[in-house]
Amino acid sequence: MAASGTGREAFGSRAGFILAAAGSAVGLGNMWRFPYQASEGGGAAFVLLYVVLTLILGIPLMLAEFGIGRRAQLAPVGALRKLAGRAWVPVGYMFVLAGLLILSYYSVIAGWTVRYGIEAAFLGFAPSSADHFGVVASGGDAVAFHVAFMALTILIVVGGVKGGIERASLLLMPMLFVIVAGLALWAATLDGAGAGYVRYLKPELDELMNPAVWRAAASQAFFSLSLGMGGMLTYASYLKRNQNLPESATVVAFTDFGVAFVAGLLVFPVIYSFALQGAVSASTVGALFIALPSAFQAMGEAGRVVGTFFFAVLAVGALTSAISLLEVVTASVMDEFGMSRRRAAIGTGALVTLIGIAPALDTDALGLMDKIAGELLLIAGGLALALLAAWKLRAEVREELLAGASPFWQRQVDRILAVLRWVVPPIVAIVLFFSVIETLSAVRGFFAG
Ligand code: PHE
Repeated sequence: MAASGTGREAFGSRAGFILAAAGSAVGLGNMWRFPYQASEGGGAAFVLLYVVLTLILGIPLMLAEFGIGRRAQLAPVGALRKLAGRAWVPVGYMFVLAGLLILSYYSVIAGWTVRYGIEAAFLGFAPSSADHFGVVASGGDAVAFHVAFMALTILIVVGGVKGGIERASLLLMPMLFVIVAGLALWAATLDGAGAGYVRYLKPELDELMNPAVWRAAASQAFFSLSLGMGGMLTYASYLKRNQNLPESATVVAFTDFGVAFVAGLLVFPVIYSFALQGAVSASTVGALFIALPSAFQAMGEAGRVVGTFFFAVLAVGALTSAISLLEVVTASVMDEFGMSRRRAAIGTGALVTLIGIAPALDTDALGLMDKIAGELLLIAGGLALALLAAWKLRAEVREELLAGASPFWQRQVDRILAVLRWVVPPIVAIVLFFSVIETLSAVRGFFAG
C-alpha cells in the first residue's frame, strides 16, 4: 500500500484518484441538497448560477487544493505548516473542524437514507410520508442508523487509500450513474413532468438578480464539489507527479454537475406530477425524504422497486463522500501525531459519532450545523485557499499544476491561476459577507426558539 520511497500511501491508478475525488464530490449534496436548494432558490435561475459558479469558482479552487496537497504530500494542517508557515496552521485546523462537523450531520442524513432503503425493500413506504419522516428523523432510531453508518465509514477509512477508498469508489461510482440515469428516464414518463422541467430549466430574469440566490448557488457549489475543507487537498496528497491535475479537476467538476443535473431531471418532474411543491418548501432538510416517498407510495409496487433503488444509490453516494470527510480528520491526526491509520480513524470516527447525536435528535440543530459548517466554514476555507494558492504559494502551485499536465492543459494553467487570483477572491469575499449575516440570524433564530 505504501508508495515506494516516501512511505506515504498512494492511489494505485490515475482513474482511481479521479473516481475517489468524484466519489467525494457526488453525494447527498447532489441529490438531497441540490434539488431542494434549486426548488426553493429560484429554480432554473439557481441552476444557471450554479453552473457558472462551478466553472469560475469550483474548478480553480479544486486546483488550489490539488496543487497544495500534491506539493506538500501531507494532510491539511501539516501541508499548510510546511508550505505556508506556522501562521496558516489555524486554517488547517478550521478544515479539520469543518470535516468533523459536516460528517457528524451528514452521517445522520445518510442514516435516514439507509433506513428508507431498507424499509422500501422489506416493508414498503409508509402511508403518510410526512409523519413517517418525523419518526425516522428523531430520537433513538435516528441515532442508531447514524451510528451504523459511521461504523461503515470508519471501516473503509481503516482499509486505507488503495484498499479502502479507491476500491470502494471504483465499484460504487459507476453503479450510481447507471441507476440515477435510469430513474430520470422513468421520471420522464410521468404525467405532468413538463411543468417540472419548465421550473427546472427556464430561468426567470428577476430571480437571477437576487443576492440570496447567488449565495445559495455559491455555497451549493462549494458543498457539492467538497471544496473549502481540505478534502481534495488530502486526496491529492496521495498522488504522484504523473497525474494531470487540471484535467482531473475538470472531469470531477463535470461529473459532479452531471449527477446533480440528472438528479434534478428526476426530482423536479416527480415534485410537479405529484403536486408536492408544498411538502418540499415546508421542511427544508426533510424535503427529499417527504416528497419522493409520497410519489413512490402513489405508484404502488413499481414505486417500491424504484424507491429501493433510489435510496440505495443515495446511500452509496453518501458513503463515498463520508469517507473523504473522515479522511481529512484521520489523515491530519496521523500526520500530526504519528498515529496509526487504524487508531486515528477509530478515534476521530468515534468523536464524530458522538457529536452527531445532537443533529440526530434534533433536525433544527442539523439545519443550523449545515449553515455553520456546510456553508460558512467552507466559504471561509475557500477564500483562504484561493489567497494561498494564487498569491502566497503561486510559484509552487503553478509548478505543481504544470507537472503531469498535457500540453493543452499546461496552456490553461496561467489562465486558471489568473482567475484564482483576481476573480475568485472578490466573489467569495462578497458571498462570505452575506453568509456571515445569514448564519448569525440563523443562530439567533435557533436559540430564540
Ligand atoms: N460533496 C459532498 C456531497 O455533495 C459532501 C462533502 C462536502 C464532502 C464537503 C466533503 C466535503 O454530498
